[in-house]
Amino acid sequence: MKIGIDKIGFYTPPTFVDMVELAEARDVDPNKYLIGIGQEKMSIATKNYDVVAMAATAADNILTDEDKEKIDMILFATETGIDQSKSGATWVHDLVGIQPFARSVELKQACYSATAGLQLAMGHIALHPESKVLVLATDIAKYGLNTGGEPTQGAGAVAMLLSANPRILEIEKESTAYTKDIDDFWRPNYSEFAFVDGKYSNEAYLSTLTASWNRYKAQYQAQLSDFEALLFHVPYTKMGRKALQALEDEMDEAGTTRFDSYYETAIKYNKTVGNIYTGSLYLSLISLLEQGEELPADARLGMFSYGSGAVGEFFVGKIQTNYKNYLRKSSHEDLLNKRKQLTIEEYENILSTPLEVDETGDILLDVDEFVSSEDFVFVGTNGHRRQYQRANN
Ligand code: CAA
Repeated sequence: MKIGIDKIGFYTPPTFVDMVELAEARDVDPNKYLIGIGQEKMSIATKNYDVVAMAATAADNILTDEDKEKIDMILFATETGIDQSKSGATWVHDLVGIQPFARSVELKQACYSATAGLQLAMGHIALHPESKVLVLATDIAKYGLNTGGEPTQGAGAVAMLLSANPRILEIEKESTAYTKDIDDFWRPNYSEFAFVDGKYSNEAYLSTLTASWNRYKAQYQAQLSDFEALLFHVPYTKMGRKALQALEDEMDEAGTTRFDSYYETAIKYNKTVGNIYTGSLYLSLISLLEQGEELPADARLGMFSYGSGAVGEFFVGKIQTNYKNYLRKSSHEDLLNKRKQLTIEEYENILSTPLEVDETGDILLDVDEFVSSEDFVFVGTNGHRRQYQRANN
């Protein structure tokens, strides 16, 4: 039985910072951000957008009423959790209107956890072929003002519906996961911003790639020429280029050209959204599928997922016939094109104004001018209970 991604879509908040303006404000040569890091814009979440609001909008955009009746598991992957106890999946379950007899849970392992969700969904569907699983990857990447990580921030969510007989991408059951306890990037409970050892995180990403790929290669007698394209976790688009370079010795000239060319297509969305942590690999997948020429049926995509701390996984997706019919290219392009540019002052205000809660636990947030009317939004807390609604309610 084939199992994999039957539907996929992403959401990103309606405001962004332009990287040239940020570079100028930081007195840095803009080419460092545009070429050295490889980012053009980054989405910024204003106060009405948290991981639940973004994931609920992403999910709602891909689901039909029939899907909502069939989904029996919601896996909410994030490293930007908003509650130590309750999972983000329960709010999304209610907002989107999924039938009650579903399992809802939150997963965490930095930027890797959506891939864990995907693999858990695969096992579940193998046991229950009629079921559908909603996997959500949702994060806000925040390193803080004037930090080394600042140009690699972003915000967004990817929603994927997994099922038997998927219409977009079959996920092969062979994969290799790898774990090593390191401190390259982390965010303690007491900190709003991530801590990172930038150079070490790049090295850790590459050594995890090599370890996962070498093991996959040995286990399954694989070689890079088995794949039409390679996709990577994309914290910033230069990182995926470094990953391609790390594998270059195993490619012939035609392979290098082919992989480089697909990679260009696979980062179109990431370049303008920024890092969305656990959703970044899947944003890159959507970019390749929507922005590229039609790939042949059964073409195999080698995929590398990386989450600091660290867990990596190399796995493979297989293109399904007519997959282009099930994508959401024009709505994604609209979403990106309709975003509003923030001034650096507006952006700095957003990042330096954390949500303050007093002992009553009541916050009333107005829905700000940037919000799109169809989106789910966070509107405050009532006795410490988070409140969401459709923006146009
Ligand atoms: N024109 C063109 N290129 C320029 C330039 C210019 N004027 N000035 C500098 N550059 C190039 C540099 O040569 C360098 O290129 P290489 O990486 O190819 O050597 C690149 O721009 C970056 O320059 P620096 O190394 O000096 O940049 P930095 O020290 O300011 O930090 C960073 C870069 C480490 C990525 C930092 O932004 C950071 O810490 N980001 C967050 C951590 C991160 O994303 N790590 C990725 C791996 S971990 C992971 O993947 C999980 C996750 O999502 C966080």
